[in-house]
Amino acid sequence: MEYQVRDISLAPLGWQKINWVKNNMPLLRGLEEEFLKTKPFQGIKISLSVHLEAKTAYLSLVLAAGGAEMSVTGSNVLSTQDDVAAALADAGLKVFAYHGATEEEYYRHIEMCLEHKPNILIDDGADLVTMLHTKRPDLAAEIWGGCEETTTGVIRLKAMARQGVLKFPMVAVNDADCKHLFDNRYGTGQSTWDSIMRNTNLIIAAKKVVVVGYGWCSRGIAMRAAALGANVIVTEIDPIKAIEAKMDGFDVMPMRQAAPLGDIFVTATGCCKTITVEHMMKMKDGAILSNAGHFDSEIDMAGLKEAAVATKEARKNITGYQLTSGNWVNVVAEGRLVNIAAADGHPAEIMDLSFAVQALSAMYIKDHHKELENTVIDVSDEIDSVIARRKLAAWGVEIDKLTKEQEDYLNSWEV
Ligand SMILES: NC(=O)c1ccc[n+]([C@@H]2O[C@H](COP(=O)([O-])OP(=O)(O)OC[C@H]3O[C@@H](n4cnc5c(N)ncnc54)[C@H](O)[C@@H]3O)[C@@H](O)[C@H]2O)c1
Repeated sequence: MEYQVRDISLAPLGWQKINWVKNNMPLLRGLEEEFLKTKPFQGIKISLSVHLEAKTAYLSLVLAAGGAEMSVTGSNVLSTQDDVAAALADAGLKVFAYHGATEEEYYRHIEMCLEHKPNILIDDGADLVTMLHTKRPDLAAEIWGGCEETTTGVIRLKAMARQGVLKFPMVAVNDADCKHLFDNRYGTGQSTWDSIMRNTNLIIAAKKVVVVGYGWCSRGIAMRAAALGANVIVTEIDPIKAIEAKMDGFDVMPMRQAAPLGDIFVTATGCCKTITVEHMMKMKDGAILSNAGHFDSEIDMAGLKEAAVATKEARKNITGYQLTSGNWVNVVAEGRLVNIAAADGHPAEIMDLSFAVQALSAMYIKDHHKELENTVIDVSDEIDSVIARRKLAAWGVEIDKLTKEQEDYLNSWEV
């Protein structure tokens, strides 16, 4: 079977969503035009595992316009949008994903996506790469390399490279300036609050918001919470990040002190158990908990389920858990990444930048895989600069250029 989606008849709704984002993704539209003429991926097989919503679908279509034979799956059991998956199947792409898959079905979809025997991977969290290195190494016969979308995936790949087990080169798309500076900070910053607001229908102003971490995502989340009028507390383990948070005007303290103060908690660290049952026992009745990090290991959901004396569906996408104290905590999207599992993910203009990096990095793998080592590779400054300039051009923004005199001055050392 060439696709496994929930309901192919949902395709028209999916096309509506894809066309909406396409109108707001000028960089990808430009690449699509170029690719239709030059067909850089003609005959090349690409397997893609990225949160399967409209922006990802458009990236898949752009790569297909370049001649790629695409095989697509999601990257989280709750982030696939069934109408969008149906639209891709309708377009003739191989698609294996549906919303609410079991863990077993999810990993079967990853395998089915790889049965394509890809030359290039587009991964988000390194599940494709991990499958090719563990259960299904037989599917890696034709692989040249791939691109990794997120911080957690890059961390996993670097661990593999350090141990000398990574079998092909992987480009750290996440680490490109045109990715993490905008996607992780402004994209996660805005879409996390979009999700919390639409799912709770509560005011953010005047709330005490506890943000766990002060990295690229979490500082965006803290910045946007403050802009909405919240009182923000940051918890960190890195002293430098803690100073940054303090100088940006936030209270900084350990989670054991923040737990009884917060109304809304958001964790985005890439670490595990940043919010434990012990913390939850100290929280106010009705505290809201959410996670924007890649895996659902940041809030100790297993511990919470064990400790809870009662549970209820408090609202769509929100589960209430009652603890022995009698207090309830409300978890959004089962502790899975809140902005994608219970909303539409990052804004289209943000993913335009991130996915332009993906498309050009896939071209880089195609052109250079023979000379690359089996390790994690940085995106070239040239790719970052081309994308940044195209983005500014799409906005109609011009910037200055160094004069010859300024260039000479910056290259000189004599006074
Ligand atoms: N939701 C999304 O759409 C989205 C988008 C991009 C990245 N991500 C994911 O978000 C996570 C964070 O990514 P990032 O780019 O911000 O990473 P980052 O490395 O820039 O920041 C992580 C921060 O968390 C801090 N931290 C780590 N463990 C902690 C702990 N136990 N308590 C408090 N602070 C702790 C670190 O010191 C660091 O400052 C990753 O899992 C990444 O894959 C999610």
